[in-house]
Amino acid sequence: MTKFISVNEAINKKSGKVAVRGWVYRERGSNKMKFIVLRDDTNIIQCVLKREKFEKQWGDIDKILIESSVEIEGTIKEDKRAPTGFEISVSKINIIHIAEVFPINKDLNEELLGDRRHLWLRSRKMTAAMKIRSTVMFALHEYMHKNGFTEIEAPSMSGTTSEGGSDTFEVKYFDKKAYLTQSWQFYAENFIQAVGKAYAMAPSFRAEKSKTPWHVTEFWHFEVEGAWMDLQDDMKLAEECIVYTIQKILKENMNELKVLEVDVSMLKKVKGRFKIITYDQAIKKLKEKGHKIKHGDDFGSAEERGLAKYYGNQFVFVTNYPLSLLKFYHGEDSKRPGTGTNFNLLAPGVGEMVDGSQREPDLNKIVERLKKINMDLGASDWYLDSRRYGSVPHAGFGLGVERFAAWICGFDTIKDAIPFPRTPTRLYP
Ligand code: 4AD
Ligand code: MG
Repeated sequence: MTKFISVNEAINKKSGKVAVRGWVYRERGSNKMKFIVLRDDTNIIQCVLKREKFEKQWGDIDKILIESSVEIEGTIKEDKRAPTGFEISVSKINIIHIAEVFPINKDLNEELLGDRRHLWLRSRKMTAAMKIRSTVMFALHEYMHKNGFTEIEAPSMSGTTSEGGSDTFEVKYFDKKAYLTQSWQFYAENFIQAVGKAYAMAPSFRAEKSKTPWHVTEFWHFEVEGAWMDLQDDMKLAEECIVYTIQKILKENMNELKVLEVDVSMLKKVKGRFKIITYDQAIKKLKEKGHKIKHGDDFGSAEERGLAKYYGNQFVFVTNYPLSLLKFYHGEDSKRPGTGTNFNLLAPGVGEMVDGSQREPDLNKIVERLKKINMDLGASDWYLDSRRYGSVPHAGFGLGVERFAAWICGFDTIKDAIPFPRTPTRLYP
């Protein structure tokens, strides 16, 4: 039986007999020759077929269109003119399927490409992005397992909401209403009394109408929660997860980074010890740089991306937001009353990538805060059992996988960092 190798393995072999298989990335031909650029998930390679060797099969070979699937055997040799520097002189071809005319070409607008997303995923850009995304997910799981965290899931449908009302998707649940989860955090703050250190990798749903390059309505959320952790531990952990993941990408995805023309020096620069500033310092810096913002305002995307840029085009932690901008579960910093034990990690070009905090452990303080904002936890009251039965200091964070992967890939939207982006106007395919 023929032993097929990947296109990259064939290229690395440089000479001799090879057998490869995949899809036709490009094709052109004349009466005497057919050039096929063959693609598999690792690379592309030019293959040349001479009619004199394939007289009997020529009728079919002539019909091969882009995205047809074929198996090829032949001899590989260096050829500087070929797209990846090597060419296979084909001695045998097995046509598995002759494709119909592929409905993707370079003239399609974003809308039509979106409709054909399942086919567009075959592009080299998307293949590379999905491989990088896969490493991001795996590295985060791996880091957690190596460091004693237990993976533990929360339901995607729940009778109550966590992050806030207006951004919640409501679904019919028999004769009741259910909500799609926005975050795992409420469950996590109860899990940690059992497992100590917990994490999850799951989709979160946000019914945000905002059509920005950095929002999708379903994103993959890497969330972490740990008993006995404080704000410093929390930021250190977020930083370590990011550095570990980038190191793994540099080890395993050089091919993909090359396809995407990523400036690798930018990744190599990320070694940890991210800059830490307070909200107050951030406001001061933004004013200096001419942003129209005043103390008490939340940052928009322009401010967040600006801050990462002003602080050396690097990741930057912003801590101690005013409590008025925070949720009832965020802790208050006893050293800086009125501000939270919270952080946002901002990434250059992206903005907010991680959101975390040391939580408020005191039931009475939470009840007070809820009263102040006129909020009744209602059916979510079970959440507060974490503060009723052995409350402990604890902290956690949530990281948007797409924002992280898009930053690594150098994309200007997260929509290309997820296979099938869901947005307010896109539910198909
Ligand atoms: O800032 P968020 O809303 O924080 C939480 O949900 C906390 N409960 C997390 C926690 O402490 N366990 O979301 C966390 C992160 C953001 O920093 C961002 O990276 C990402 O999730 N995110 C989105 N990514 C894509 N599309 C959206 N609509 C997103 N909303 C949040
Ligand atoms: Mg946030």
